[in-house]
Amino acid sequence: MQIKKAIIPAAGLGTRFLPITKAIPKPMLSVVDKPTIQYIAEELSSIGVEEIIVVVSPGSDIIKNHFGPAEDLEKRLLSDGKTALYEIERQTQKFNVKFVVQEEANGLAGAILCAEPLVKDQPFALLLGDELLYANKGETPCIKRLADIFEQTGKSVIATMEVFGDDVSKYGNIGIAEENDGVMQVYDIVEKPSINEALSNNAVIGRYVLSGEVMGMLKTLKPHGNEIYLTDALKVLAERGDLLASCFEGERYDVGDKLGYIKANVALALKSEELGSDVAEYIKNLAETLK
Ligand code: G1P
Repeated sequence: MQIKKAIIPAAGLGTRFLPITKAIPKPMLSVVDKPTIQYIAEELSSIGVEEIIVVVSPGSDIIKNHFGPAEDLEKRLLSDGKTALYEIERQTQKFNVKFVVQEEANGLAGAILCAEPLVKDQPFALLLGDELLYANKGETPCIKRLADIFEQTGKSVIATMEVFGDDVSKYGNIGIAEENDGVMQVYDIVEKPSINEALSNNAVIGRYVLSGEVMGMLKTLKPHGNEIYLTDALKVLAERGDLLASCFEGERYDVGDKLGYIKANVALALKSEELGSDVAEYIKNLAETLK
């Protein structure tokens, strides 16, 4: 079954990244010259979804403005003969983006439920707005890999990576039973466990393709304090053998974290045709001074 809808939660408070996140949502932070959320929309182009639903916080129009029209700017670029810049600006408008508001900061599942009127009981892709997954030439974008597995098996599938030490407690954590062609069966999942409670070194990262029943399951979950956990619904799927996991190709950056954000900017600047060689030279010279 083809995935037609994608949800990008973008209403987080971003407290790890204050003060910039006071007025600017984390997914709008720029990596080189593009906001993270545009990289995510481009990742989604690999599976050709019909609609991207962005979950925003109340009163936040900045993401809407980014994907919306800009007639005056376009006219000016064209009259100045800046056609390459015009094309870059037009690229931001090629996505079919809808917006829903998350009134209450009630966790990841709360954000997903805000998109329920648009998704209903259809399967959907879920891409967390503060993670940038970069596929190099020849690599399969992370969400494409998950969508392919979903289409082949009909089962929900999550992306995973190995983590160690204190990092284990920063992520959802999965127990995996078998591996076939890089596809793992998940038998259990726990949200941000202590090192002793962890099931393995496999962390859940912010890319998911979820079956249509998940939306209904979320409605029945009991909150933990203020928050509803997606992990609680995934646990039900895992225990009945209906949850798969896969590693991803390429690079992952946690752009909601200051160090992760800086790494993303350096790595992508080095890959940039326009800036790559100048940035490499700058970094080499700088590294000399650090010895
Ligand atoms: C969420 C999920 C967690 C997952 C993480 C990936 O947590 O609840 O299971 O490992 O995203 O980034 P958050 O980072 O929103 O606290």
